[in-house]
Amino acid sequence: MTDVRESMYLVSEFAAKYFHDVLLNSEEGKAIGYSYFKERGFTNETIKKFNLGYSPETWDALTKEALGKGYKLEFLESTGLTIPREDRPFDRFKGRVMFPIQSMSGRVLGFGGRILTNDKKAAKYLNSPESEIYHKSKVLYGIYHAKQSIAKQNNCYLVEGYTDVIQFNQAGIENVVASSGTALTPDQIRLINRLTRNITVLFDGDAAGLRAAIRGIDLILEEGMNVRVCSFPEGEDPDSFARKNSHEALVSYLENNSKDFIQFKASILMDEAKNDPIKKADLIRDMVSSISKIPDRIQREVYIQECARIMDISEQVLVSTLAQLIQKDL
Ligand code: CTP
Ligand code: MN
Ligand code: MN
Ligand code: MN
Ligand code: MN
Repeated sequence: MTDVRESMYLVSEFAAKYFHDVLLNSEEGKAIGYSYFKERGFTNETIKKFNLGYSPETWDALTKEALGKGYKLEFLESTGLTIPREDRPFDRFKGRVMFPIQSMSGRVLGFGGRILTNDKKAAKYLNSPESEIYHKSKVLYGIYHAKQSIAKQNNCYLVEGYTDVIQFNQAGIENVVASSGTALTPDQIRLINRLTRNITVLFDGDAAGLRAAIRGIDLILEEGMNVRVCSFPEGEDPDSFARKNSHEALVSYLENNSKDFIQFKASILMDEAKNDPIKKADLIRDMVSSISKIPDRIQREVYIQECARIMDISEQVLVSTLAQLIQKDL
């Protein structure tokens, strides 16, 4: 099978090996890339498991190496590893630590590359462009290492970033994937749906994370799946939290703080809405709107009951609001 796509996989896999080798064996890679990962608390085992790498500062280090090994410029360019330029094509990723993105079956589809400085002006992560083999909206970072554990645990933790996935794996929790570099999509949720019907959304303790979680809830419900949500303390993300806590503390935090979406919405908005009837009404409408996304009628009914109980409002009025929303959808 030496079609275009296979050639793209092969050059991507070569690049992943090259970046990994540079990280572990070159002076620049060791001094900059490897020590960066060490500072983040990644073990050698983790670096190996996720095939983490480093792309040198040089203009065309990877491009030259790959061409020398007989890989074609055409595929270096179509995967986005090399940026075309008539005189001297150059590497897309320069002076970055590299996270290869793998498919469910372990093929390398693309890369995320992180800058090492905390320069707020530069984009922190640079990702491979869309290509014949890399469709961002259909890929979940970590799925290759997570799939068995997701099926076994019958639950999938959904996080935002590469390092969240990696740090959870290192902490012994493998049923975790990230949407990485894109807002969650229906195709990504369907990928999880092949393995389990249960998703727990773990979002960064910041405003962007909260927004992403709220958006994610409705998408997951629309796929007919069960969604729970677990938030982290302000300023923490799953990576930083996992680093600060033991495996046992992390597991019990996840157990104690995961809520179903009704409890979750109630908890985040309750404080501000408690004594304000208008805000409380908005919140209830918002909950019913989420409930209206659920395809299964009995499940909707169950959540309506829960919402009525938690918000202390009659089921009847919720049912009629729900009926209006579903009517609108038809
Ligand atoms: N992301 C991206 N491009 C950016 C910023 C973020 O593609 N300029 C994606 C990355 O996949 C990143 C995820 O969004 O992992 C979450 O972003 P953020 O929380 O800002 O990054 P962290 O994963 O926490 O990265 P780090 O801990 O390395 O700062
Ligand atoms: Mn395709
Ligand atoms: Mn964030
Ligand atoms: Mn984060
Ligand atoms: Mn982080």
